[in-house]
Amino acid sequence: MNKILDVISDEMKRAFLSAGYAEELGKVTLSNRPDLCEYQCNGAMAGAKQYKKAPIIIAQEVAQKLNNSNIFEEVSAVNPGFLNLKLKPEFLKDYLNQMAHSPKFGLDMPKSPRKIVIDYGGPNIAKPLHVGHLRSAIIGESIKRIARYAGHEVIGDIHLGDWGLQMGLIITELQERYPELVYFDEAFKGEYPKEAPFTISQLEEIYPTASSKSKEDASYKAKAMDATFRLQSGVRGYRALWQHIVNVSVMDLKKNYRNLNVEFDLWKGESDVHDLIPHMVEDMKEMGYAYISDGALVVDVKEESDTKEIPPCMILKSDGASLYNTTDLATIMERMNRIHPDEIIYVVDKRQDLYFEQVFRCARKTKLVQPETKLYFLGFGTMNGKDGKPFKTREGGVMRLESLLSEINEEMYGKITENRLVPEKEAKETARVVALSAIKYGDLSNQASKDYIFDMDRFTSFEGDTGPYILYTIVRIKSILTKYKEMGGSLVEAALQEPLGEAEKSLMLQLVSFNAMMESAYEEIAPHRVCAYIYDLANALNHFYHETKILTEEDTVRKEGFIALLVLTRDVLETCIDVLGFQAPERM
Ligand code: ARG
Repeated sequence: MNKILDVISDEMKRAFLSAGYAEELGKVTLSNRPDLCEYQCNGAMAGAKQYKKAPIIIAQEVAQKLNNSNIFEEVSAVNPGFLNLKLKPEFLKDYLNQMAHSPKFGLDMPKSPRKIVIDYGGPNIAKPLHVGHLRSAIIGESIKRIARYAGHEVIGDIHLGDWGLQMGLIITELQERYPELVYFDEAFKGEYPKEAPFTISQLEEIYPTASSKSKEDASYKAKAMDATFRLQSGVRGYRALWQHIVNVSVMDLKKNYRNLNVEFDLWKGESDVHDLIPHMVEDMKEMGYAYISDGALVVDVKEESDTKEIPPCMILKSDGASLYNTTDLATIMERMNRIHPDEIIYVVDKRQDLYFEQVFRCARKTKLVQPETKLYFLGFGTMNGKDGKPFKTREGGVMRLESLLSEINEEMYGKITENRLVPEKEAKETARVVALSAIKYGDLSNQASKDYIFDMDRFTSFEGDTGPYILYTIVRIKSILTKYKEMGGSLVEAALQEPLGEAEKSLMLQLVSFNAMMESAYEEIAPHRVCAYIYDLANALNHFYHETKILTEEDTVRKEGFIALLVLTRDVLETCIDVLGFQAPERM
């Protein structure tokens, strides 16, 4: 379906043309004075010089041509030469009825859908999830859903950190505690036990213990590094133990991400590309891209146009060990070979932007990607506490994701049960759903690259620009529709009618820009556009609700029109929160 601004602009262009002016001048935009008009066109001002005429004269001539427009109810030429526009109620009604019956509310599907890999989540095996991982998960999931809704093929890959020093640390600590374990018996040739020799809660205690020991004790750290090296070189017992660590940890991660309503298509990790590295490195050397500098193998990535220093990309350390970069490069190679994406988007903390610049340049230079493959780094800012510093626990430690979630769940549960009698089980579930909206909306309504303050009171409020307010609005609509059905009405037969009141028309004007909004949210990779849109839409709905007697309207056709308007608003709101990654309860 053509976007509303295109339809209106076309009408305006015809008018410019028939008044004897260039049609490009007829571009229409949303009004920046909603008190005066709904849309506006500044073409007369833009054309004044070229046509050596006062803009107001041009505007008047154009307005004349639109006297019998099917689209505009009012076209007024105002000084110094603006064209202020209002839509015909009938046109609005037709557009919305068409929208209501079109797939995806009239959002056009791409002729050639793109294949996009999104690298997000990025948790590290055996290390607890913290709030930084939360942002990646929330933003990545939403971008994935938006791109999918826009008709593209999207593959979300969690890119587990499963191959680094933390694995060696855990193995070392296990060896200290349980030296008799069969995994450490180098002569052992049989099958290792299927059952892991530890639980997730033990694992959660083992890693921090090992990590702090290694900071105090150099020989312990050396042991851990050696264990990491032995693991990576394929020592059987170490690999078997590693597999247990991965399995136990992944099971726990799956539970955590499920609670966040985040789903990955691929659970690949750094370890998956380990075996591809030697070959990749050989190629880089052979083609003359990689050379030895201070013992390390590097690829130069600086470019002439650089205004700041971009250091070379290190491929192998002087001891031959690979690095975080090496893994990312091999992963790009693997994704290109197996998935052939048009685009890879990385949703990672923005402090890694120089790092990704190096990796992307290196991947391009060494031809791991086609020139047309887009590599995009979406760096997100820090989630801060009210003091403006990175979010911490009350005791000042790193906030674990699980603690944050249970804190906000509790807060929400308190609010929900405050003045009402709700069965315990329902209240718990509703609290969970609403709390998730609070966290996700609180995050996504900011531009991803900006830091933001996690403000529990504000995020969980049912008023203002918050997730709970959006859900509250949806639930309000649902309850009116339920009452309507109880009164014997049917939702299916209702068709939208011409708006009579101002609040009704404003709501309709908000609805018609859905497809343009979704298109730009996809193109700009910007979930905050969806948030801004639904906030305005929810406000328009609530204004309409307060101004209108919906269920007591006596004119049945009008009443059905209201109902159809509510149904469409509910559906659009629910579609939007779905791409943001949360849902609305039936009641709250
Ligand atoms: N595991 C990393 C971390 O916790 C994030 C991984 C980001 N993705 C990537 N392809 N490097 O910081």
